[in-house]
Amino acid sequence: MSAPITKAVIPAAGLGTRFLPATKAMPKEMLPVVDKPAIQYVVEESVAAGLHDVLMITGRNKYALANHFDRMTELEAILERKGDHERLHKVNHSTTLADIHYVRQGDPLGLGHAVLRAKMHVGNEPFAVLLGDDIIDARDPLLTTMLTEQGKRNASIVALMEVDPSQIHLYGAAAVEQTDDPDVVRVTGLVEKPSAADAPSNLAIIGRYVLRPEVFGVLEHTLPGKGNEIQLTDALQEMATTPEATGGVYGVIFRGRRYDTGDRLDYIKAIVQLAIDRDDLGPELRPWLRDFVTTLG
Ligand code: UTP
Repeated sequence: MSAPITKAVIPAAGLGTRFLPATKAMPKEMLPVVDKPAIQYVVEESVAAGLHDVLMITGRNKYALANHFDRMTELEAILERKGDHERLHKVNHSTTLADIHYVRQGDPLGLGHAVLRAKMHVGNEPFAVLLGDDIIDARDPLLTTMLTEQGKRNASIVALMEVDPSQIHLYGAAAVEQTDDPDVVRVTGLVEKPSAADAPSNLAIIGRYVLRPEVFGVLEHTLPGKGNEIQLTDALQEMATTPEATGGVYGVIFRGRRYDTGDRLDYIKAIVQLAIDRDDLGPELRPWLRDFVTTLG
């Protein structure tokens, strides 16, 4: 039996141009989803799956991110004086959540380049990658399933989700073969952001990966691809086609709730969907939303 995976890498160094000007001085991963920054949901997911060692890949404006997971003694003292223990707990929670480390990406040369920055910290063991702007609903655990599959198959694992063919150009798309498990496929090829006509399937890669450390060697020679960025998908394409050397790639098909907070429309939907289910907001939001919908005609 191999040692359990303990490390998660969260890339959060993208420019977030779709969210300008909100992301001019703040990473998009810090945008609030109801009352928590998106990245806190992602760290909570990592910890819930048993990964307490979290490495964040940061870019410009990293301070807002680091401050969020750090102590804020002045604020804590004020809440303490007021006896507001509920809010004090909320403030402290992100500080004690995980063992968080940071490394700078420098120039945002692509997701593959961001992941390569984790090489020193991760070393020679499998690890998870969770995109900091992609939220998986805590009620639909995905990462735990992926970690189990990694242990079983000793391959790299990607998360795949069926999307409408008209949307596949926004994602990496996978060519797959069935396995004896209906929720697990063997990935035979990957294409980053293909046109609907060129896509090998409508199975899109979403922002969760469990990777073998061989990915670092592959990323070191991966050339810039789509958008002139070093693409993680291109490195995984090489791994999918060289299973003897790199362990190959399998996909876990996810059928649960996912919110892409890096996209403005999905971000709005995420806030409504998550708030509706909350005990403190749902009971008032639901009737308001129903009334509002009737005004739309
Ligand atoms: P995206 O492509 O969604 O991020 O990357 P982006 O480039 O910031 O977005 P737009 O299109 O300009 O709005 C997916 C994830 O990879 C990280 C991002 O922070 C995000 O979590 N990323 C991307 C990096 O860390 N470094 C990069 O060079 C690129």
